[in-house]
Amino acid sequence: MQHVPVLFQEVLDTLNPIPGGLYVDGTIGAGGHSRGILERSSPDGIVIGFDRDPEALKLAEKNLADFGNRVHLIHSSYHQLQLHLNNRNWHSIDGIVLDLGLSSMQLDSPERGFSFRYDAPLDMRFDPNQPVSAADLVNESSREYLIEIISTYGEEKFARRIADAIINNRPIGTTKDLAALINRVARNYKSRIHPATRTFQALRIAVNQELDALEDFLPAALEVLRPGGRLAIIAFHSLEDRIVKQYFRKESSDCICPPKIPICVCGHKARLKELSRRPIRPEEKEISDNPRARSAKLRVAEKIF
Ligand SMILES: C[S@@+](CC[C@H](N)C(=O)[O-])C[C@H]1O[C@@H](n2cnc3c(N)ncnc32)[C@H](O)[C@@H]1O
Repeated sequence: MQHVPVLFQEVLDTLNPIPGGLYVDGTIGAGGHSRGILERSSPDGIVIGFDRDPEALKLAEKNLADFGNRVHLIHSSYHQLQLHLNNRNWHSIDGIVLDLGLSSMQLDSPERGFSFRYDAPLDMRFDPNQPVSAADLVNESSREYLIEIISTYGEEKFARRIADAIINNRPIGTTKDLAALINRVARNYKSRIHPATRTFQALRIAVNQELDALEDFLPAALEVLRPGGRLAIIAFHSLEDRIVKQYFRKESSDCICPPKIPICVCGHKARLKELSRRPIRPEEKEISDNPRARSAKLRVAEKIF
């Protein structure tokens, strides 16, 4: 299934691309958001697109072919953007977008192992060249580590039970085997989601070190933006959204001293301005047309200096 970009109009309205502008799409995927940026910044705006998945880059290349050399694609994690931009002498970026998580193509490709709707090896790597797959984590991690990732990244209250079941049934080969095992030990009749949903999310986050990438990215993005440049981030779960929210709050404050200290001693100066305190959410219409948008939250900030 072709990927439908989430909060497309909202991202474009907040980034407000202009001709001649230089933009970074940190998660280019099928190139949906990038297409909008390229159209709005015609005739000479440039998009530098990152993705960890070589398949996504091939698709973006094909989908954006009509923009010719206005598109530059880089096979790397977005958290390394500063390095890549410096190497190519690209400075003063006008806008950056991140659309986190995974694409419909990845979710719908059985062999990628992201979904328990299909039976496939437990993989879940965005970049197939990465050394550690979900199967490695499931079959080789200690009980303590499994509990930690399932409870922290999955916010799963049955983490212990699930970790014990995994340990007692190893090796676990496929997505369906893991989902069936979790279904046996952690079924919650009150929950509307499949009992394996949270554990799958946790494994994907751990395999790809997604939260570390986001934490490393934020200060780097602030460095590469020009004053007045904007950063737009779409998160799909509370762990990601919290990291973005806390970073935006900190960098938009003139003081980050603990509340107990009566006079500011930190010397911190706000470098960002949040465009709105509350995240932008999709309209009902978008959610009914594209259920993947359901949990999306967009936060936007502008660099001051
Ligand atoms: C939701 S999709 C983006 C879809 C895109 N906005 C579009 O309109 O087609 C997320 C993409 O981010 C990529 N990705 C995930 N983590 C990444 C990272 N740390 N660095 C670069 N790309 C990443 C995934 O491989 C996936 O292709």
